[in-house]
Amino acid sequence: MTGSEIRQRFLDFFEQRGHKVVHSSPLLPANDPTLLFTNAGMNQFKDVFLGNEKRDYTRAVSSQKCIRAGGKHNDLDEVGKTARHHTFFEMLGNFSFGDYFKEDAIKFAWQFLVDDLGLEVNRLWFSVFEGDEEVGPDDEARELWIKAGAAPDRVLGFGRKDNFWQMGDTGPCGPCSEIHYYMGDDPDDPSKNSPEWVNGPGDTTMEIWNLVFMQYNRIALDEGGFLLEPLPAPSVDTGMGLERITAVMQKVKNNYDTDLLRPLVEFTADRAEIR
Ligand code: GLY
Repeated sequence: MTGSEIRQRFLDFFEQRGHKVVHSSPLLPANDPTLLFTNAGMNQFKDVFLGNEKRDYTRAVSSQKCIRAGGKHNDLDEVGKTARHHTFFEMLGNFSFGDYFKEDAIKFAWQFLVDDLGLEVNRLWFSVFEGDEEVGPDDEARELWIKAGAAPDRVLGFGRKDNFWQMGDTGPCGPCSEIHYYMGDDPDDPSKNSPEWVNGPGDTTMEIWNLVFMQYNRIALDEGGFLLEPLPAPSVDTGMGLERITAVMQKVKNNYDTDLLRPLVEFTADRAEIR
């Protein structure tokens, strides 16, 4: 399957489930002084999550062009060191604006990856927010992954750094649940396809999709510090790296070897006469 076919398959999957297909917004966000570049699919829906804007749909799907080269989500220092980071990439995302919440978000993700794309269940890992002094543990997400079909020992708890997503210092945010994939050659080797590699070193087990359960607006207080204010309605914001899921589907260990990026590398190498 080509990268373009995977993008289309994602858009079609969610359109068939009542989502409005929305174009990628520009890389320079309109009317948002908190962001230099678009860093996630949810940016163009920020005011919808906050309840300040109404659309004529409550479910959306997009493939959003993103730049992560500064600010809260800055991948610049990872580029060239890992096989999976880019400064510019495409984020596949499905969104619910006060429509469905955790149960359907998790069910849709499982159906797309396992039933539609046919990924092997014994290569998938799931992470949930284990809670902290501000927000409690997301036991519901853990139960829902198990209900969807995950083995309990493949659902792992992590803290705020990995499992609480916010767009920037302020704005919509909430606990999140990530899906990680073991890309190696030995899925039956318990020392390789094992929990310590989830959010661990190397690229062999990599995050492919993040499901954010949007429940709060993080606001800056005049006296200093921040406050989490509940959103008007619990919502869903997801982000899956198109280049990452394409690497998985094309069974290559480096995003730059997918058909989305390899031709650009080859073209540049030819022009630079370095081959
Ligand atoms: N907004 C979801 C993500 O960027 O992971």
